This record gives sequence, C-alpha cells and structure tokens, in this order.
Amino acid sequence: MINQQQLWDDEAAGKYDTPGEGMFSPEVLGPTVEVLSELAGGGPAVEFAIDTGRVAIPLSQAGVHVSGLELSHAMISRLREKDGAEAIPVVQGDMTEAVAGDSFSLAFLVFNTIANLLTQEDQVRCFQNAANHLAPGGRFVIELWVPQLRSSPPGHQGTVEVSRPGYLLVDTFDVLNQHVISHHVGFGPELSDGREARIGGTPHRYIWPSELDLMAKLAGFELESRWADWDGSDFTGESRSHVSVYRLAAAESRLKEF
Ligand SMILES: C[S@@+](CC[C@H](N)C(=O)[O-])C[C@H]1O[C@@H](n2cnc3c(N)ncnc32)[C@H](O)[C@@H]1O
Repeated sequence: MINQQQLWDDEAAGKYDTPGEGMFSPEVLGPTVEVLSELAGGGPAVEFAIDTGRVAIPLSQAGVHVSGLELSHAMISRLREKDGAEAIPVVQGDMTEAVAGDSFSLAFLVFNTIANLLTQEDQVRCFQNAANHLAPGGRFVIELWVPQLRSSPPGHQGTVEVSRPGYLLVDTFDVLNQHVISHHVGFGPELSDGREARIGGTPHRYIWPSELDLMAKLAGFELESRWADWDGSDFTGESRSHVSVYRLAAAESRLKEF
C-alpha cells in the first residue's frame, strides 16, 4: 500500500490548493477559523498535519499564534511560498511522535486526517502526542467523517461517494482491518494531460466516534463538545461527519499507560 510520504509528493502539493473554492472557500474556512480562534482562547495553537497552511494561515492572520507538524517536505515547501507563512513555525515529522513545543492551548487535526494513520496504535499515539503538546485544560479538536458502512449494500465492498461528470469517488472497505481506500477517478475530455482517465487511491483507517472517544480517554482527554459541523449544528445518528472537542484533564487523573 502506498505510504503517506509517497502520497504527499510535489505533484500532490502543487495541486492541493483550490483558492476560494471547495475546502478553501470562505464558507468552509470562515467558520473553521472562528471556532478554532475561540477555542484557543488567546493562547497558542498547534496544527497536526498542517499541509500547505489551508487553515493555519487564515488562523494566524486572525491573530492566533500557530505552529505546525507535517510529514511531507513538499507540503511544507508549498506553505513556505505563501504570504503569512513566515509567522508559522513548522516541524517536519510524524504527528504520532514529532514535537512542536509544549503548553499549547489548542491542538487540532482536521479534514479527516487522523484517518491517514493506518493503525489503531498510531491513532492512539497521535492522541498521546497531542496531550503532550498541551497545557492542562488545553483542547484537542478533531474533524472526522463517520464511516459510511450503512450505505454499502450487503455483499458489496464499496460505495460511490461522489459521481459527477468527469469524476467519481469510490470508497472500498476492508472491514477486518477497518480500512477504507478512496479511489479518485477522473475521466473525460477535460483531462488536461491528454489521458482518458486518471486514478489515485488514498488509504485511511476509519474510526467510529465511540472508538475515537476511547482513544481520547486513554490519552487523558474528556469529550467536551461534538457538533455535526463547524457551525455548531447538532450531531445526530444521521450525521456524516463531526467536529469533536476534547479537553485535557488534570495531570493526576490521566491514564499513564495504554
Ligand atoms: C488531506 S491533507 C488534510 C489536512 C489538512 N490539515 C487540511 O486541513 O487540509 C493530509 C495531510 O496530512 C499529512 N500527513 C499525513 N500523515 C501524516 C503524519 N503521520 N504526520 C504528519 N502529517 C501527516 C500529509 O502530508 C498532508 O499534508
């Protein structure tokens, strides 16, 4: 299976940003930045998997002191080309173990990226690393989708998540290992490189909200809030994703060992 280093190469970093559109649109970034600023409460924040600074740059421009961890050299280079990036220190490394400092008020890991860690053990280590970055009472915010296994008909191993002219997103599941591979298929005359189709696959380990809460507990966090989106809407049984806010408990009540 392709690893994250190979996935987030120069080509991926060059194509990541869609200024003003999709996940870079003001409708997405505005509420995200507003919620994170409020949760930082005037203190410093650290983003795990900071990418090209999609959220970190506007958050920094909103007055929050932001640092980052990022595995991919290519994504960091792209970040470094942007206005405002000079205010954001980034440590290159794996978010399960790399260290950007300590005593942050807020750590955050958004856009489903905890699922880029492909084992339960690494996901737990990521929570523990977040706890190590925070001052007592600090918060860790995770944005993550809810596994869509209910939409997979019996006997089928995949679901079509997006279908529009020239693009299909198909998720295939390996329920034994809790893995889902998102297959992105671009096709049709509009492909700029002259090919008839282009396919790419991104592997994830999906996590149920209850499992996520247990990982958080093991690292000493309590669930403080869970919304369906950054607008604070109610999380229900039908919600397809969530924004979860975990708060670090006092040191003496934290579980030391996993
Ligand atoms: C799909 S992007 C999404 C995250 C991004 N923060 C956003 O809001 O758009 C995934 C990012 O996670 C990074 N990444 C993947 N695994 C990582 C790891 N183990 N440690 C640190 N960064 C990682 C990738 O290099 C890439 O920049």
